[in-house]
Amino acid sequence: MPRDDEPLAGWLDRIERDARLTEPARWRERDEVLDQLDGWRTVVDASGDRTLPQRFDVLEARLQAVDHALHGALRESIRSGGGHDTLLGLVRAGAVSGAGQAPSSDRYDALDAFIGGVLDLAPGETDLQPLGTDMVFYQPTPARHIFDALDQLRLGPGDVLMDLGAGLGHVPLLAAICTSARCIGIEWQAAYVVAARARAADLGLVRAAFVQGDLCEADLGEGTVFYLYTPVSGTLLRRVLDRLRGEAERRPIRLCTLGPCTEVVAGEAWLRADGPCDRHRPVVFRSR
Ligand SMILES: C[S@@+](CC[C@H](N)C(=O)[O-])C[C@H]1O[C@@H](n2cnc3c(N)ncnc32)[C@H](O)[C@@H]1O
Repeated sequence: MPRDDEPLAGWLDRIERDARLTEPARWRERDEVLDQLDGWRTVVDASGDRTLPQRFDVLEARLQAVDHALHGALRESIRSGGGHDTLLGLVRAGAVSGAGQAPSSDRYDALDAFIGGVLDLAPGETDLQPLGTDMVFYQPTPARHIFDALDQLRLGPGDVLMDLGAGLGHVPLLAAICTSARCIGIEWQAAYVVAARARAADLGLVRAAFVQGDLCEADLGEGTVFYLYTPVSGTLLRRVLDRLRGEAERRPIRLCTLGPCTEVVAGEAWLRADGPCDRHRPVVFRSR
């Protein structure tokens, strides 16, 4: 952001000279500058100045190229089995400079752009199936909550994480990269499952699998940890929780929830929460 009273051209001079912005770990600062360029674009284009728009274009292209190369290098690192350390190192590097953000906020931030660039998940031009009553439309878990959940869950090689309503698969994919657990996404929308499977195969993530189906009917027998970013509500949520209680009678399980379903899950007598039940951040529950 230009400092108080700093002319836009002066801010641009300063940013263009800032060599740190092209250091790979500075993805958060790059995202901030790209946002600022975007915000100023209309003013600059309307200003009549001939050089400023060109300088905006050059700077934007330079920063995007750094990010593009970083995302590609990270994908290579994941393919060769070193993705865990590289990805978590970069996430932590960005987290330091982003300190002070409200952890409970639901909004997306630079970490989502960064993870989005690495996973590059998009369904093809396929029609989505209509959702039934009580089925919740796709909205990905903000990336910082995924890392928070993984920190809390400390998944090990004996764990099988099941994301119930996995969408495009961010949670199982990141969990397969960052932990030693097996990860399964169950998702109603076939187009999302196709995209998630393609990315898992591309990245060589043999511990990530995706099943197309209704989470109210799917086989939950392998799961030790179930992730729910409120995929369903009302009677469907009731049905899923009853099924999970049935699983818990056979083995200890954990649930990790985010969003409005947390309040419903918190009322289940067969579960106890590890910490305070706040719908705005992941909460881990254990079967009693
Ligand atoms: C809020 S999104 C969560 C996506 C993902 N878990 C994440 O956190 O990034 C809910 C997802 O659940 C899926 N869904 C809703 N009802 C479902 C059902 N009965 N069976 C399987 N998936 C369902 C939706 O298609 C959507 O992708």
